[in-house]
Amino acid sequence: MAPVRLLVVGAGQRGSGYARRAAASGAATVVGVAEADPSRRERFASAYGVPRENVFPDWAAVDSRLADAAVIATQDRDHEGPAVRLAGLGYHLLLEKPMAPTEAEARRIADAVAAAGVIGAVCHVLRYTGYTRALKRVVDSGRLGELINVQHLEPVGWWHQAHSFVRGNWRNSVESGPMLLTKSCHDLDWLAYLVGGAPASVASFGGLAHFHPGKKPDGAAARCLDCSVESSCPYSAKRLYLNCLEDDDLAEWPLPAVTPFRDRDSVLAALREGPYGRCVYDCDNDVVDNQVVAMQYASGLTATFTMTAFTPMQRRQTRLFGSHGSVDGDGRILRVTDFRDGETETIDTGDPGEAGHDGGDGGLVDALLAAVADGNPALLSSTMAASLASHRVVWAAERARLTGTVVHL
Ligand SMILES: NC(=O)c1ccc[n+]([C@@H]2O[C@H](COP(=O)([O-])OP(=O)(O)OC[C@H]3O[C@@H](n4cnc5c(N)ncnc54)[C@H](O)[C@@H]3O)[C@@H](O)[C@H]2O)c1
Repeated sequence: MAPVRLLVVGAGQRGSGYARRAAASGAATVVGVAEADPSRRERFASAYGVPRENVFPDWAAVDSRLADAAVIATQDRDHEGPAVRLAGLGYHLLLEKPMAPTEAEARRIADAVAAAGVIGAVCHVLRYTGYTRALKRVVDSGRLGELINVQHLEPVGWWHQAHSFVRGNWRNSVESGPMLLTKSCHDLDWLAYLVGGAPASVASFGGLAHFHPGKKPDGAAARCLDCSVESSCPYSAKRLYLNCLEDDDLAEWPLPAVTPFRDRDSVLAALREGPYGRCVYDCDNDVVDNQVVAMQYASGLTATFTMTAFTPMQRRQTRLFGSHGSVDGDGRILRVTDFRDGETETIDTGDPGEAGHDGGDGGLVDALLAAVADGNPALLSSTMAASLASHRVVWAAERARLTGTVVHL
């Protein structure tokens, strides 16, 4: 089968990762790139031998179908433009989450994909891990009886919160979006996948408990490099980013957001001048650091979701309680208890051995390429319409939090 031809729009952290995976799989060739940053654009174009005529400084300059599919990995507020245009030109789409900051924009994307009859996948990568597939098999097998209640925890991790949601790109709801959208839309989509649909009603509470000036310790400075209490602060940028130099995984992420260079002087220069050197109690952040969502489904099933910054970097943890059995999952191991005999089966879903959301990034890319090559959208575990439906739960829950009401979908 001929490799799928790919256009990458936004060759940043995510776009480059998908391109790497797609090219390495042998199922795709990267034939085009639209990237605003000149040095990223050149590096990317030369890495994949992209012909000059297919190298663009802006997605808006793409006006023909030079590839079978497009990866859209620009920042959150720049998804609708390229998605609507490229779907209209006949490209199948791999669109980064969140679909868009607002429901109206996301709906226009879903409508454009439907009108063009192209395949559209939102990068809800958690659907594509081996762990999720194993858990979904348990739920769908009927072993648990009627599903009565679900508890799901997203342990963001203390330094990940500080990096992305206090100092970084997703810290401010006006610039990017609320935390539930930019981070936890994955979880609300994953729950919809697991239980087979969206809830009928949602309530939500949460806020910014810790990362604000009111919690700034005495003696703290505006930047970690000038701070007298830096060494005893869990959120020290100096400790976090200098440690990245010694660790190959951390050097892949989060270090490149701070500096493209893996050396001490470059890190210190970035912390001196850039956003990642700022005191976590002195940033322009407003997104929550903890939030709960309570959900009720038409079937009567209830579910709760908790997002919190104040954890180690861990996998998501989920407990499902059914009439005939329960499951306790930690992101790798599933403990399935059967109430008929009281026995607990332990299922080790294996070490994914792969970065990128425990293999979810790779699983999604492989599924998209297979779906495009075969012209069979069923090879994906989701549709653009299903993604829109799970995003609607996010907006409803955020509305519930901000208005102190129960929102009915
Ligand atoms: N699926 C996931 O789990 C996951 C994880 C992290 C981020 N994301 C999402 O992925 C998207 C990209 O995130 P990232 O971390 O790769 O960001 P990034 O900033 O590293 O990359 C975005 C790139 O888009 C380029 N760009 C900006 N305007 C452009 C234009 N008009 N035309 C072409 N290119 C343009 C930028 O120069 C940049 O290189 C975001 O929507 C983010 O929320 C998803």
